[in-house]
Amino acid sequence: MDFEEIIYKRRTIRRFKQKPLSIDLLKKLVDFARVAPIARNIQGLEFIIVHNEKNREELFPLIRWASSLPEDQRTPEEGRKPTAYFVVLVNTNIKKTYYNFDVGAAVENILLGAINFGLGCCWMGAIDRDKIRELFNIPEYFEITHVISLGYPDEESTMEPYEGSFDYWKDEKGLMHVPKKDINEIIYKIF
Ligand SMILES: Cc1cc2nc3c(=O)[nH]c(=O)nc-3n(C[C@H](O)[C@H](O)[C@H](O)COP(=O)(O)O)c2cc1C
Repeated sequence: MDFEEIIYKRRTIRRFKQKPLSIDLLKKLVDFARVAPIARNIQGLEFIIVHNEKNREELFPLIRWASSLPEDQRTPEEGRKPTAYFVVLVNTNIKKTYYNFDVGAAVENILLGAINFGLGCCWMGAIDRDKIRELFNIPEYFEITHVISLGYPDEESTMEPYEGSFDYWKDEKGLMHVPKKDINEIIYKIF
């Protein structure tokens, strides 16, 4: 897959085949995050890889899915849950102001890298940070920023022209539709 295809093909995926993921593949994705751009190159990001079934089952109820959809379409059904997760951490002992940008760049490297391996991901901010801290015994000096859910995709998602609503929707065949603005709507000026 060439780079342009990866960029346009990446859509959030929230249903997964139950084909196992190797630890080596998951580590490779963390390695993609490792080399992302970082303000002042101060490297405060760390990751928990959640691979085994017991921990996946414990994490699953602590994350919220697809708030734009009607409630009965949000959460992956039994047999279509993620087969791995990354918990994204920021080490707050390493003081810096703009770490949120670093998180964004690192997570995007993972999401795009995953496409390259035929995987799908969901970047998740609607998470129960207190319970996740407790579950994985995460020290207070780490800020828990996000969870990334991943696995081999078991749904498809496509872009649609934006027509006044940012809400994504699922059609009767289960295909997700995600509105995106036209390029001419986001180029403010050309000098
Ligand atoms: C910072 C951030 C937090 C997100 N949190 C969630 C979440 O908690 N649950 C979820 O289902 N999707 C979440 N998403 C995925 C967005 O809903 C998705 O990216 C958006 O609808 C656009 O779809 P696309 O990724 O296919 O372009 C999040 C995305 C970002 C960037």
